[in-house]
Formats: sequence, C-alpha cells, structure tokens
Amino acid sequence: MILDGQTKVYGIFGYPVKHSKSPTFQTAAFLHLGINAVYVPFEVNPDDLEKAVESLKVLKIAGVNITIPHKENVINYVNELSEEIKVIKAANTIKNTDGYLIAYNTDWIGFIEGLKELETNLEGKKVLVIGAGGSSRAIIYGLLKENVDKIYLANRTLQRAEKLIREYKEYFRIVDKIITPISLQQIETFLNDVDIIVNTTSVGLNDEDFPLFDYNLLKESHIVVDIIYKETKLLKVAKEKGCKYQNGFPMLIYQGAKSFEIWTGQKAPVEIMKKSLNLE
Ligand code: ATR
Repeated sequence: MILDGQTKVYGIFGYPVKHSKSPTFQTAAFLHLGINAVYVPFEVNPDDLEKAVESLKVLKIAGVNITIPHKENVINYVNELSEEIKVIKAANTIKNTDGYLIAYNTDWIGFIEGLKELETNLEGKKVLVIGAGGSSRAIIYGLLKENVDKIYLANRTLQRAEKLIREYKEYFRIVDKIITPISLQQIETFLNDVDIIVNTTSVGLNDEDFPLFDYNLLKESHIVVDIIYKETKLLKVAKEKGCKYQNGFPMLIYQGAKSFEIWTGQKAPVEIMKKSLNLE
C-alpha cells in the first residue's frame, strides 16, 4: 500500500476500540479494489464524542463507523439522520460529504444479510429475539422489513421490550400484532412455535454464564443466531442438535460491507473481507 497526499481517511470511533476487527477487513477491501484509502481505529472517550464528530469536518475524514458506547449519542451531533435511524435510534456509520455529516444504521442490514446465508426466505417466519437493547432494535427493524410473521421479544426487563414495541408502533402500524413481549422464563413455552432464535444479549460471552433457557430443548429445525463473536454454549448445543447456526461475524462483515458501499459507492468485496478475518 502506498500512501500519498490524496489518501482518504476512514475509521471507527469506539471506547474501547482495540479489539475491533473493522480496520482489518475494511483495509482489505480498499486494497483489493485499489482504492487509495486507509481505515484506522480512534479511541474516543465518551466525554469527547461531540468534539470527535466535529473533527471529522476539520480533518476531512471521509467516513467512520461508530461502535459501543457511542451509537446512541452520536446521532445528536450529525447534520442529517437516514430514515432507519429515526426508528432504531442508533447509528453505526457516518458519511462526510464536504463537511455535511449523514448518519446511517447498517447493523440491521448486516444482520439480515448474514441470516440469509442460513435461510434465504424470511417472509412468514416466526422468530424469538432475546434482548431488547440497541442491537435488538436494529435486528427487529430488519425482521419487520423482511415481513416475518411473528416476533417473540424476550427480555429480562419486560418494560424495555414493551417500550420498544410502543416506539416501533409509530413506524410499523401493526407491530403490536407481530411482536409479543415475553419474559426470559416464558421462552421455553414458545420454542416449539418459532423457526429462528436470535440471542442479542451478552449472555454467553463468559462460558460460565447461566443459560438463557434449557438449550437441550432446541430442535434440528431451529435456525440459531448468537451475535457474540464466538461459539457460545447456545451455539455449541445448536451444532450438536444439527441446527443451522451462526455467530456474530456474518453480521459484522455485512454491516461493514454496507458502510463501505455507502462511503465508496462501490460493491464491497465481501469474500475478501471475510478472508482477511479467516472466516471462510
Ligand atoms: P446492545 O447494544 O449490545 O444491544 P444493550 O443496549 O446494553 O446492548 O442491551 C443489552 C441487552 O442484554 C438487554 O436486553 C439486557 O437486558 P435488560 O434490558 O433487562 O438489561 C440484556 N442482558 C444483559 N445482561 C443480561 C443477563 N445477564 N441476563 C439477561 N439479559 C441480559
């Protein structure tokens, strides 16, 4: 790679950011397509987020991804919000066009593109989503766009699931018919009724975590997604049972691919991006 006076700068704002895989696979994509650009990690303290976003204009940084813990706050500091952000209320991508900053959320499309590697037709499917935080909001937005039939939204704090449904009803009119809030204790009651199971909580990050439900109740026909970047206990059992399953890496790659396309206007080389993380 040869850097020169015209090299464009992209990056990621996070805190911490040192474990981010985005610099690796975004750089691989730029190199593959011969685009004169770099993608670097920026550790941004939450107190400095506004200044960091302003600096995009000053330094003419062409675009950034936004990760934990800035995804919600960042939308206060940009010039324009893309449609999906008005619903999801979190952003993971900013594009800088001559000092005008537009924020986007590509997590939802990342999740859907990843899931489609396991099941191409999502219309009419019944889904259990566990967790009602930021990731869940993006995932549910995607599932609603794909016309799923039913979403059981399980959360430790039931009020948070109910709040999500109330807010989404403003944008998707029949949402309270499609989404039913349930407690974690009720999950086992609904397992037989669902095609797809998605864990969006951090449960499973530590191997000693208590399971979210009795994983032995999984059936071979279940499609199981855990958005954690490793083979969790949930996924191990899914594998043993012969389920189709997936960890968080496909969602990561496809959200990044969509960000890449927003920034460059070019189709992202997804296979190259995967290869750079040894994911094929
Ligand atoms: P993210 O942006 O990754 O979605 P988040 O917005 O902090 O993160 O949401 C975390 C989700 O994981 C929430 O649904 C949270 O449940 P609560 O709303 O009850 O807090 C869930 N979660 C986190 N730790 C959990 C645990 N030990 N057991 C069950 N759910 C948990």
